[in-house]
Amino acid sequence: MRHLIDIQNLSVEEIEDLINVANDIIANPKKYSEVCRGKKLATLFFEPSTRTRLSFEAAMYELGGNVLGFSEAQSSSASKGESVADTAKVVSCYADIIAMRHPKEGAPLVASMNSDVPVINAGDGGHFHPTQTLADLLTIQREKGRFDNLTVGFCGDLKFGRTVHSLISALARYKGIKVVLISPEELKLPSYVKSEVLKPAGIEYVQTESLEEYMPELDILYMTRVQRERFFNEEDYLRLKDSYILTPQKLKTAKPDLSIMHPLPRVNEISVEIDKDPRACYFKQVLNGKYIRMALILMLLKDAGKI
Ligand code: NCD
Repeated sequence: MRHLIDIQNLSVEEIEDLINVANDIIANPKKYSEVCRGKKLATLFFEPSTRTRLSFEAAMYELGGNVLGFSEAQSSSASKGESVADTAKVVSCYADIIAMRHPKEGAPLVASMNSDVPVINAGDGGHFHPTQTLADLLTIQREKGRFDNLTVGFCGDLKFGRTVHSLISALARYKGIKVVLISPEELKLPSYVKSEVLKPAGIEYVQTESLEEYMPELDILYMTRVQRERFFNEEDYLRLKDSYILTPQKLKTAKPDLSIMHPLPRVNEISVEIDKDPRACYFKQVLNGKYIRMALILMLLKDAGKI
């Protein structure tokens, strides 16, 4: 049984296939509108979400399938003390595929080991978020037309930002990638991402606190929200939350074809004036997220022999 827990579960070729299918869905949506007729996706969300859950649900509906699930832990049997393993066993009796978000790192992996249907990690704590990465990759492919020879700046909460960990892990497999890690000292990229991903792949990277210093070099600027829910105390959050605010002024030295990305939700990190800048890609990422999730659902259901 094939699952998607970590972006590394997909080869570079499989990612290319998913992107090709997503682009075909964008061009010919009617062709796909019945392919999952009678199939059910369960969305098990133990943590808040707008985009990820709704895009999974919209994706399944647009494939002609159905959706069941819950959007908060309190409304599931987890509140009675049921384990993730048991929940996965139970739900795999009802659904053909599961998308799970959980505050604990590794919970979707545990679910996948106990499920009879494919499990997709829709975000596990401060760890990984592989389907946001697929949305990001589709966006980069559509904006830049390539994944190699790009200088990518990641700015904000690189410690808890799971979308950052997964995207770095995906980009590290391409040639000529340079990574600029822009964060306050306390929110630096975890050392395991450096030692297990960046160093073995020989990826050139710098760590800095200054967004301005590297702005002129960037092809992509990936802004992130400071992840309030992962902080141990509110004081630290309040001190760090506005570390970086992207304004038109700060973009003066940027490349004319910079792509500004953000997984959303945005709090303060990008001034709303930037929304009308043609370099802003964050709402395109949202739409791309639905199409690539359609491609992923198709791939995993086909692989499981369900369609
Ligand atoms: C992200 C997440 O949940 O990690 N949101 C998303 O899925 N697009 C980013 C965030 O919450 O800051």
